Amino acid sequence: MTETRAIRVSCSRGMAPYLTQELSALGHAPRELAPTALELRGTLHDAWRLNLQLRTALSVLWPLASFPCSSPDELFEATRAVPWEEHLGLESNLSVVSRVDTPTISDPRFANLRVKDAIVDRMRDQLGDRPPSGPERTGAVVRAYWWGNQAQLFADLSGQKLSDRGYRKRPHMAPLRETLAAGLLLAAGYDGAQPFVNPMCGSGTLAIEAALIGSGRAPGLLRSDYGLQHWRSYDAEAWQEIRREVKAAPLRTPAPIVATDHNPQAIEAARHNAQTAGVEALIEFGVCDFTETPIPAVGEAGGVVMLNPEYGLRLGDTAALAATYNEVGDLFKQHFKGWTGFLFTGNAELAKKVGLRTSRRLPFFNGDIECRLLRYELYAGSKKQKKQGQAPGGEPRA
Ligand SMILES: C[S@@+](CC[C@H](N)C(=O)[O-])C[C@H]1O[C@@H](n2cnc3c(N)ncnc32)[C@H](O)[C@@H]1O
Repeated sequence: MTETRAIRVSCSRGMAPYLTQELSALGHAPRELAPTALELRGTLHDAWRLNLQLRTALSVLWPLASFPCSSPDELFEATRAVPWEEHLGLESNLSVVSRVDTPTISDPRFANLRVKDAIVDRMRDQLGDRPPSGPERTGAVVRAYWWGNQAQLFADLSGQKLSDRGYRKRPHMAPLRETLAAGLLLAAGYDGAQPFVNPMCGSGTLAIEAALIGSGRAPGLLRSDYGLQHWRSYDAEAWQEIRREVKAAPLRTPAPIVATDHNPQAIEAARHNAQTAGVEALIEFGVCDFTETPIPAVGEAGGVVMLNPEYGLRLGDTAALAATYNEVGDLFKQHFKGWTGFLFTGNAELAKKVGLRTSRRLPFFNGDIECRLLRYELYAGSKKQKKQGQAPGGEPRA
């Protein structure tokens, strides 16, 4: 298994810098192909391993074919020329997911259908039978990309999206996608050396991802079923060996992680999710108003406090939320001196109510909603005048 190919790793919009950071830390040399796709060279087993290791990726794709394509008939014929009988069995469900950006067709469902028909035709011809097919990504997933006059076919080794880690059995209101939560933490520079406080934790996604990062646990070990297991190239022994190897990485004990919410049901869900993820013991949960969240002592490494309040687009009422955002500013200013504060929101108007100067405004997408991760340097008194001539963060705006 030494042949290398151009492995493609996809992510949500806004996440490519953090995925690049992750891949580089794992010793790969990724190249950005698009805002939601990176490419790196590696073996099939490297690609398998990435499914277990990556925190911010949505799927890991192994290339099977690339060809010029300017019509649905060409897509069908070129797909039919691929030896699918060598790649797929007859038992697993086959599903096809396409992305198209070509003047020829606008609906990716049409491409899905042509690709699926071509695969099924070929298998029936070669094997006398065809696999079952349907939209569920529980079996073998084929990805088709058709950009302009070029099309590519991939084996989606992840199957279900990697954001579905399998620990969130109980979502609360508007939970963050697990990969987005991990990206926010990486963007915040969180690595477990500093305490992490997450008031308004909802179903606990940020705290759980922090515990996984801080302890050095590979997120993909939580899941047992991957698309890669439904291809003929699957070798159960080699897969178990890769899982064992990834699991053998030494675990660390992160600095304290505190997660609170005023809703007892949210905390019950968060605790249950953390238990499923195997990190309950690393998180101190509490039911309280966000302003009452217990604050651990900070050391040299400082501390990270991150809030993801409702932002009035999907939940809550904007007018009432203005007061909450204002209180977040007060909380940061009065109780988190010496920490780095982060607010994740999709509502720029509400963010202004925090009333503190941001040191960074990092773009992210929560689904289709453009959001920002706002960073506030909450200097302790002595650091106030750190930079001459520049008003420090954490100070009220003029
Ligand atoms: C957008 S949700 C957070 C979702 C969370 N990031 C997740 O992934 O599940 C906002 C949370 O803030 C909580 N909340 C709202 N007002 C609060 C307050 N005054 N004190 C504490 N929690 C509050 C809500 O109960 C809700 O769980």
